[in-house]
Amino acid sequence: MIRRPRRLRTNEMIRSMVRETHLGIDSLVYPMFVIEGKKIKKEIPSMPGNYHFSVDTLVEEVKTLIDLGLKKILLFGIPKFKDEIASEAYNPNGIVQRAIRELKRNFGDSIYIITDVCLCEYTSTGHCGMIKDQRIDNDSTLPLLSKTALSHVEAGADMVAPSDMMDGRIAHMRRVLDENGFEFIPIMAYSAKYASAYYGPFREAADSAPHFGDRKSYQMDPANGKEALLEVKLDLEEGADIVMVKPALAYLDVIKKVKEISDVPVAAYNVSGEYSMLKMAINQGLIGKDVIQETLIAIKRAGADIIITYFAKEILEKGIL
Ligand code: PBG
Ligand code: ZN
Repeated sequence: MIRRPRRLRTNEMIRSMVRETHLGIDSLVYPMFVIEGKKIKKEIPSMPGNYHFSVDTLVEEVKTLIDLGLKKILLFGIPKFKDEIASEAYNPNGIVQRAIRELKRNFGDSIYIITDVCLCEYTSTGHCGMIKDQRIDNDSTLPLLSKTALSHVEAGADMVAPSDMMDGRIAHMRRVLDENGFEFIPIMAYSAKYASAYYGPFREAADSAPHFGDRKSYQMDPANGKEALLEVKLDLEEGADIVMVKPALAYLDVIKKVKEISDVPVAAYNVSGEYSMLKMAINQGLIGKDVIQETLIAIKRAGADIIITYFAKEILEKGIL
């Protein structure tokens, strides 16, 4: 035999030398949930190992993350009330806005805060947009999304990530941010976001399940791959700085295609259902914890530059990286 691929697998020294894909701490983003109240750190039953934090305990937790070297978070808020126009989403003193201010007051530039911009946690219907004639209305939703993004940035957010899947939201948001002097705040667009059952555990955590119908009139059909490229192209034309594919694991082919056509970084969201499936299997001893590394590296190998994952803290604590 002349070719023996096993020669390069003899020991870890040589394996690490020829490794094609690396999982770096720099490309990880950790999602977090903030709620009203004080001294609360309550485990989320649908997502073991993740918590609802009140602002004070969130600050303590972020201190721990920074010490671990994890400095990028994606922040979600659960407001004290919901209404038809999602008032709390853009309240300058809303839960997310207060959390951002406290984090920035404590940690300044040592923490990079990305905020999820959507209305579903804040609307009484649980939908990501305004309702008109029993439909999810696109155009009347845009100003509310932009207003929400602006309120986050005014509180000190470093980046905004609209996850609503309305058409034209990136252009609208870019214009509103620019008009208010925030030309340098990047937008990470949830560009190819599918109508997925994998969001189930998150919707329990964020209390954001739709009260009627589903999200199929705005989120993408899981059967469509090419359409993801259209969504990405539109978001790039509208000014997206980073494009995202979500979920990650059932859409690795989409990540690969999006990476091929994008001249901006590509993010992949390893969502709640993907997390909880593995986490619960690991907790029950059904699969070894090495599966975390294997799974995240697969997302990287498919082409993701940035991975948003609930495993971020754990892999640092356990020294998996
Ligand atoms: C809000 C939003 C959702 C997720 C991120 N932002 C839920 C949804 O679209 O229903 C899902 C995140 C996850 O499952 O981890 N629109
Ligand atoms: Zn939403």
